[in-house]
Amino acid sequence: MQKYFIKTYGCQMNHSDSERIDLVLQNSGLEKSSLENANWVILNLCSVRQTAIDRVWGKIHEITKKQKHTRLPARQENTKTKIILTGCILESDKKKFKDKVDYILDINDLPKWPFITKSLNHLSTKTQNYLYLPAGHASKFEAWVPIMTGCNNFCSYCVVPYTRGREKSRPADDILNEVNKLVVQGYKFITLLGQNVNSYQSTDNKQQTTNNNKQEKINFPKLLKMIDRIPGDYWLSFVTSHPKDLSVELIKCFKECKHLIPYLHLPIQSGSDQILKLMNRKYTAKKYLDLISQVRRLRPDIHLSTDVIVGFPNETKKDFEESMHIMKKVKYDMAYIAKYSTRAGTAAAKYENNVSRAEKKQRDKKLNEILKKTALENNKKMIGKTVEVLIEKKKDNAYFGKTRNFKNIKLTTNNQQLTTNNLMGKIVKVKVAKVTAWNLEGKIKD
Ligand code: SAH
Ligand code: SF4
Ligand code: F3S
Repeated sequence: MQKYFIKTYGCQMNHSDSERIDLVLQNSGLEKSSLENANWVILNLCSVRQTAIDRVWGKIHEITKKQKHTRLPARQENTKTKIILTGCILESDKKKFKDKVDYILDINDLPKWPFITKSLNHLSTKTQNYLYLPAGHASKFEAWVPIMTGCNNFCSYCVVPYTRGREKSRPADDILNEVNKLVVQGYKFITLLGQNVNSYQSTDNKQQTTNNNKQEKINFPKLLKMIDRIPGDYWLSFVTSHPKDLSVELIKCFKECKHLIPYLHLPIQSGSDQILKLMNRKYTAKKYLDLISQVRRLRPDIHLSTDVIVGFPNETKKDFEESMHIMKKVKYDMAYIAKYSTRAGTAAAKYENNVSRAEKKQRDKKLNEILKKTALENNKKMIGKTVEVLIEKKKDNAYFGKTRNFKNIKLTTNNQQLTTNNLMGKIVKVKVAKVTAWNLEGKIKD
């Protein structure tokens, strides 16, 4: 039996794609294995920063080096490990990788990949969109559900519009069917995925057409409300949102949709209007702060996270101070701070990468210090509160999970709870006792 191993780099979208690759390979009769035993190694790439691509070179080197040492007899050459690259790959990198790997395959062509059995080929005719393919979810109670892929925004630093192409939304009835199935199977936490979920747009929903006898456009807030009507005991969330498309209708969903958890990831990228303009983000710092106030007004308990880039070309000390200022003002619970990396072919690649490495490191450190303070302040407000927690892990005699507002929590239990109940995947009530900036700790209520 042929064996495979998948290594995934990058964001949830890539991890979700790997879940689709996984099930397709298993349905084609391949068996999952370790890297050492695999006939096929699939590397699912992220090109968002150069460091991610550098790590792939290291991995390819590791695999091919191992093969050289194995010195297969010529007749066994066909059993040597074959390397497939897929995911977000820039054209310039494809050229460089070409001779080092066996295949470079587009995820959009997944139903037509080599080793896919004929019985699955029919899937490719049903739709152009690979998201139709079923996924082998890694967890029994948490699942990502991609609703769209690609991006039309062309932020000047970003590779995604080049590697994933233009936005393609998945039909609403496909999404509803998948979420429905997951909820029936007992899934407790569904995260809708897309590079910019806010620009989701579907026209071909069966329910709408039969009810109204006309095709009605379904935007993201409408889709959320339709999913929210699926009955069951589950949490719903989404990533990621572009501030320019965060509508009042969507903000209101945080009040109206009972399954939607109070968690919003809203990347700011910079607090300086000058830099935001160079980034082609199409909003100002003031507009962003207005959005945050509107969301907080409706959901004061919302967990807010963001992405920030430090050291974008021409980011002066004053521009950077504006990023510090906005971080202090919003008081984020989490922020993913990235040092700017030039990406070939993007609009920003024509600017000089003129903030030094040392300066980027300093700026990164300063923003992380602000984050640590605000995250701790926010967490302290949760001490003494009773919260709902989804239990995700059991380790060293303790349970670990997520609160309904998406914070990590460690649970202390009495011995009986630990030994007699299997609480994995269950939602329980917990009283928060202790906090750090990144974790909470609490006791399960009987
Ligand atoms: N669609 C999402 C982001 C996808 S990329 C959005 O618009 O928010 C994930 C994050 O990587 C970005 O938010 C950005 O902060 C970071 N990033 C993207 N390109 C980068 C680059 N060239 N250098 C450094 N960080 C980058
Ligand atoms: Fe990249 Fe901007 Fe699209 Fe996000 S919205 S994926 S940062 S181009
Ligand atoms: Fe990377 Fe592609 Fe995600 S470039 S961040 S894996 S969409």
